[in-house]
Amino acid sequence: MFKKEVYINRRNKLKDKLKGGLVLLLGNKEASFNYPDNTYHFRQDSSFLYFFGLDLPNLAGIIDLDSGKEYLFGNDFSIDDIIWMGPQPQIKELAAEIGVENTEPFDQLGNYLKNAKNQGRNIHVLPFYRGDTVIQFSNLLEIHQAETEDYISSELIKTIVDLRSIKDQYEVEELIKAAAIGYKMHVTSMKMAKPGIIEQEIAGVLEGIAISYGAALSFPIILSQNGETLHNHYHGNILEEGRLLLTDTGAETNLHYASDNTRTFPVGGKFSQKQKDIYSIVLNGINHGTSLIKPGVTYQSIHLEVALVLAKGLTELGLMKGKPEDAVREGAHAMFMPHGLGHMMGLDVHDMENLGENYVGYDDEVKRSTQFGLKGLRLGRRLQPGFVLTNEPGIYFIPDLVKKWKAEKINSSFINYDKVLNEYSGFGGIRLEDDLLVTEKGHQLIGKRIPITVEEVEETMKS
Ligand code: GLY
Ligand code: MN
Repeated sequence: MFKKEVYINRRNKLKDKLKGGLVLLLGNKEASFNYPDNTYHFRQDSSFLYFFGLDLPNLAGIIDLDSGKEYLFGNDFSIDDIIWMGPQPQIKELAAEIGVENTEPFDQLGNYLKNAKNQGRNIHVLPFYRGDTVIQFSNLLEIHQAETEDYISSELIKTIVDLRSIKDQYEVEELIKAAAIGYKMHVTSMKMAKPGIIEQEIAGVLEGIAISYGAALSFPIILSQNGETLHNHYHGNILEEGRLLLTDTGAETNLHYASDNTRTFPVGGKFSQKQKDIYSIVLNGINHGTSLIKPGVTYQSIHLEVALVLAKGLTELGLMKGKPEDAVREGAHAMFMPHGLGHMMGLDVHDMENLGENYVGYDDEVKRSTQFGLKGLRLGRRLQPGFVLTNEPGIYFIPDLVKKWKAEKINSSFINYDKVLNEYSGFGGIRLEDDLLVTEKGHQLIGKRIPITVEEVEETMKS
């Protein structure tokens, strides 16, 4: 945990910004996978972690915005628990670690909330993303599950997004630690990518690295020879010489700050000329994107600038045609990159996505596009110092998408469908992803850059 002043400060800021009523932050419970006591790896709710820091199940925090009082609800462990789990801290001790004065047994939470409700006080909660939390909240307030939605507070969401979007020095230090774990994972993936290896052999080693240096993976590993499938979690293919392997993975530190990087490299260690041609376009895209990152610029405009780099490169190769500027305006490049350039990152790999993507990535000024491709951009708004984000362009040859667009003549004035289908089927996909901090003057890479140029990658794979 951070020192207790960090959590006290964060709660004070919340109290300063939000007026009236009380804030309820429900911590997560254990989740079972095949019988009650066989549980998934426990993951605390990130907003609970942010304000209350405690990485244990069955807790709830209340911040009373009127009196300023803060409460931790939770039960002390019984001797029956301690026999199985070993000695455990008392709730009072846990509360002291995060500077919270008041503690109550968990079964008092329902009374507390019902009293507040009966007095007509505002109860602010965040959107629910687990079924058990919806049931818990409806039980606590004795309301129907459908009514739980009425308590979701846009004021609370906006305030928390404002606070969590700006990372402080302690958070940046944690993110750099996560990046160091991610670095080890990616270099290991490059070194292991030899013909004959099964993808899952690499994926398993990478997960082991994440766990041995931190808390866990920051999301299930994406590792595939079929990198054109954007979130490919199937790891059963045997690596073949001449194919590309896309690895998109990252770790969480013990405090749950994330890393998220992608590298794509040739099985066996040598890029073919055809692979180099596409790779260089994506590399130019990521480098150009990074060069534009600074406060005041919208990430939507950077996404479009990177799209232009990709469209120009694809036009030079004869895969696209016409004026690249027109192609990007019409969204034609999105057949090759149907996703957004990046997202916020922090305590969640897609930071705060459970609070609502548009609250996190958009605002009154920058609205989310509905255009294919651009609508997938999770972060579009103006950058501010302290934002941490990913920059992750890619070029993919997705057979079903190409065939559909060709059949429907979508953007046919900008795409050479025959060349795409005849010469690039089976090529796969290339994505490159770095994590960056927006600074006062520009940007800073989080951690050391994972080998990325053709030369660096080939050198790493050789050693
Ligand atoms: N790295 C996976 C994603 O950003 O969706
Ligand atoms: Mn990402």
